[in-house]
Amino acid sequence: MRVLLYTGKGGVGKTSISAATAVRCAELGYRTAVVSTDPAHSLGDSFDRPIGSQLTELAPNLWGQEIDLLTQMDQYWGKVQAYLNAVFMWQGMDSMVAEETAILPGMDELASLMQITSMAESGNYDVIIIDAAPTGSTLQLLSFPDIARWYIEKIFPFQRKTIQLARPVMKRMTDMPLPDEDVFDSIAELVDFLERMSRLLSDGTKSSMRVVLNPEKMVVKEAQRAYTYLNLYGYSVDAVICNRVFPRTLTDGYFDTWKSAQAQNLQLVHECFQPLPIFEIPLFEQEVLGLPMLAHMAETVFGANPVRGGHGDPTHRFYEGKPQDIFRRNGQYVLSLSLPLVARDEIELNRSVVDELVIRIGNWKRNVSLPTGLARLDISGAKYEEDRLNIFFDATDTREISEEELRSKRWENLKSRFRGT
Ligand SMILES: Nc1ncnc2c1ncn2[C@@H]1O[C@H](COP(=O)(O)OP(=O)(O)O)[C@@H](O)[C@H]1O
Ligand SMILES: [Mg+2]
Repeated sequence: MRVLLYTGKGGVGKTSISAATAVRCAELGYRTAVVSTDPAHSLGDSFDRPIGSQLTELAPNLWGQEIDLLTQMDQYWGKVQAYLNAVFMWQGMDSMVAEETAILPGMDELASLMQITSMAESGNYDVIIIDAAPTGSTLQLLSFPDIARWYIEKIFPFQRKTIQLARPVMKRMTDMPLPDEDVFDSIAELVDFLERMSRLLSDGTKSSMRVVLNPEKMVVKEAQRAYTYLNLYGYSVDAVICNRVFPRTLTDGYFDTWKSAQAQNLQLVHECFQPLPIFEIPLFEQEVLGLPMLAHMAETVFGANPVRGGHGDPTHRFYEGKPQDIFRRNGQYVLSLSLPLVARDEIELNRSVVDELVIRIGNWKRNVSLPTGLARLDISGAKYEEDRLNIFFDATDTREISEEELRSKRWENLKSRFRGT
């Protein structure tokens, strides 16, 4: 089972490349579903036929769906929401306001994630392709399980067992509504679901994120930030798709300035994303609409004459390492970058803007956008360790624990709170 998610700025070609990938996967005999989580759905436009909020068969082995964000949340959240309503109203909140407040931020994301997780767990598909919303919303989507966990920790700061024991006493002391068994069951179920989503998406053998961009400066910058945050959240990015590259056959002098700008930006793409594979797609003579055009697009990205499990198979994991990683060690944050073999001359670190780091080694250069957490900190040094350049940031924190361990501990703690007797 593979989940392939395409993200990038609006208009770069996410929907087209998602659809093209889906066409190729189905052609290889994979049971393929392509789902759009962008509220501005255009999957139907790509396939040149209507696709609704129900799974629609588009070709042999190929199904498509434009997820309707407002369905299917009630099942897990309904009871919890009703309880929150009661608490907010008890606190004197107007019932309308209480109802609004009980809807947590990110509910839309939750609906999409639940749908994708259910599909992945159903065993009905070999590949699920996600045509995601523009970068910001997708990062929100992918960080949702962690954010939701944070909220649940804060909103329900009590243990199920404690409440069970204290219920008779509390009843006499206060008329604050206490969550009953139903509510706890719902939260437990929700937390369980969230953890499964988080595991599915952060497991690089199952899920790969792909960054789509155009060779334009602003687009590259946004893609670079997205890439940094995806790494930070522990998601595995395995390829960059550089779409709308001017073909060599374009010789009209009118485009000369555009072409030289593209050449520069392509260079920038390589500096920002190496050692990830970078697939280029030319600007076609026309829009990408309908199955034949999508198949053609797939050919330019993944190659012709594909073999299942071999050449031209989009489900391949194109990059396995973690080119960029952030973890804590000895009271410091470490930004760890995998480096191709370079002459180990002097490393030159430059912070051009506060949140951007430019690393020069000889004539090799790499741009890294720093996540806000690191941008605030001072760099205390850098060192080569096992083919990686590790850059150390001073941190006040002294815990020696990886982000991953920390995460799974947190889930465990949270789950134990809501478990029944
Ligand atoms: N390489 C390309 N050549 C020509 N047109 C393209 C190319 N890639 C995408 N398009 C067209 O550009 C428009 C936007 O692409 P789309 O895939 O919908 O972008 P996104 O989903 O990122 O907003 C669509 O009309 C699509 O057909
Ligand atoms: Mg789109």
